Amino acid sequence: MNCEELFLSKFNTAPEFKSFVPYRVCTLGAHIDHQLGHINGFAIDKGMSLCYSPSDCVKLYSTNFDGEIRFNIDEELNKSFNWGDYAKSALWSLKDSGYKITTGFNGVIEGTMPVGGLSSSAGVTILYINAFCRLNNITLSENELIEIAHKAENKFIGLKCGKLDQSCEVLCKKDNMLHIDTLDSSAENITIPQKARPFEIGVFFSGLEHSLVNSNYNLRTEELKYACDIISEKSGKYYGDKLRYIPYEIYAEYESALPENVKKRCVHFYSENQRAIEGTKLFKEGNIEKYGKLVTESGYSSIYNYEAGSPELIRLYEILKDTKGVYGTRFSGAGFKGCCLALVDPEYKKEIEDTVKEKYLAAFPEHKEKYTTTFCKTADGFGGII
Ligand code: GLA
Repeated sequence: MNCEELFLSKFNTAPEFKSFVPYRVCTLGAHIDHQLGHINGFAIDKGMSLCYSPSDCVKLYSTNFDGEIRFNIDEELNKSFNWGDYAKSALWSLKDSGYKITTGFNGVIEGTMPVGGLSSSAGVTILYINAFCRLNNITLSENELIEIAHKAENKFIGLKCGKLDQSCEVLCKKDNMLHIDTLDSSAENITIPQKARPFEIGVFFSGLEHSLVNSNYNLRTEELKYACDIISEKSGKYYGDKLRYIPYEIYAEYESALPENVKKRCVHFYSENQRAIEGTKLFKEGNIEKYGKLVTESGYSSIYNYEAGSPELIRLYEILKDTKGVYGTRFSGAGFKGCCLALVDPEYKKEIEDTVKEKYLAAFPEHKEKYTTTFCKTADGFGGII
């Protein structure tokens, strides 16, 4: 059942509103948004929808998860550790930002792709914020929406993420790649140059879904914070609590004071930031082949320096990088489970789909039922709330 059908069956009436938000992929800038680095991303033509009608409380169903979520607008909001927490986080964040919410909604949320790597958490949060805003006559600019959605995930859910997901899902444009310097949030949509070789975005889902709050995501951010603290202590100068504030030369001077694992995370940061800057230039020149190579290098660094991934994702990456017609590949999103993305030459789609599936399932036959391949095109982001 899609969200409209489920809405009808649960609430015995059709929904008054329906909104859609795209998923995103991040080709370069993995795990450096929380350290204020540069990122590249695309919104894709697949996403999530919310059907809803006004109500005095919030009552929700999902086409993907079981159970009913119910809470009051004026109750003290605490996590229940289920999928409904994203709706609570949206309400909490709006209130915490000073907005008065008196109307809630009956709703059904629908995701069209498996959870993990495509930023469904930021996506659903944006949809819930939008529903509250529309029903309570609140208008938000694109940047306000990004901030409120980011605060919801950071403070209420507790994932110490940067603004990559929210920014891509809101700001991306069809036929463009979004480049952001997350240090000052300056964003640029770069139109795919005419002379660029055609490409599509392949999403190869490993069969393992996940939620990032239960992964090593926050541990990595702590390791990087530790690096900042040690460098400040050893140098006798406080640079700040994000690696971007520490120039590479200063890092290099104090690198030996850091434990091996922390050093590797820093190597990932500095090299990935450089790749995102260089990649942006290559993309502007329309050099998709070289851009793709950087994406694959980024995947390598995520595995060996950042130590993200799982045996399944690492295998998928290894298979994809050696497959004809793949310009570049890496984990999508945080990449602890979930999926790999690949920039592919559309001429080879069928071959890529068949080869990768055969090789991957030979290694992990237990994921036969859940493994999927989806080819996507770029899409418009959500925009602001009007
Ligand atoms: C998740 C986070 C983002 C970003 C990516 C990794 O999607 O929510 O902020 O850090 O992982 O690049």
